[in-house]
Amino acid sequence: MPQNKKMSPVTVLYPGSFDPLTNGHLDIIQRASRIFERVIVSVLSNAGKNPLFSTKERIEMIRDVTVSLKNVKVQTFDGLLVDFALVQNVKVILRGIRAITDYDYEFQMALMNRHLSNDIETVFMVPSLEYSYLSSSLIKEVCLLKGTVAGLVPASIEKQLLAKIRTQNKNVT
Ligand code: PNS
Repeated sequence: MPQNKKMSPVTVLYPGSFDPLTNGHLDIIQRASRIFERVIVSVLSNAGKNPLFSTKERIEMIRDVTVSLKNVKVQTFDGLLVDFALVQNVKVILRGIRAITDYDYEFQMALMNRHLSNDIETVFMVPSLEYSYLSSSLIKEVCLLKGTVAGLVPASIEKQLLAKIRTQNKNVT
């Protein structure tokens, strides 16, 4: 269908818990920053999910590893994602899909978000194959059980993970 209207540059929200950010997340952010005008990494600040890292820590860790990507911003949100998108005046949500097992959940979320706000579209990107098995929860589990996560998260985040787990273990014993 011919489109006569001039299309405007697209800003996307890339939402998630990022507890912590993995190399898979970073891969999606880097790919998105090459396609979209602006990428707003939107960190869910939800105490209900009982995150390992505080919202402030997660934001700082992501800012630190995306500092060279000038069109990437990191912000926090609470409540409904579509309400945050509205406040930011953004109409596109970006999500990463790693494998077909992600599809059901992502499909449900995309349709629920469309139900809540018909103006908002969800687009999906896939990370590099080498990161397709990564998740924040697996990273935390491996780290807690003293396995290595080198190469799976940025080096600065690996350092903070180890420090956080050390502190937690000290507080338990
Ligand atoms: O990558 P994650 O941690 O699974 O991200 C989930 C996230 C943050 C995108 C999702 O839980 C979310 O959007 N939460 C905000 C609350 C909301 O809007 N819920 C209805 C959307 S289905």
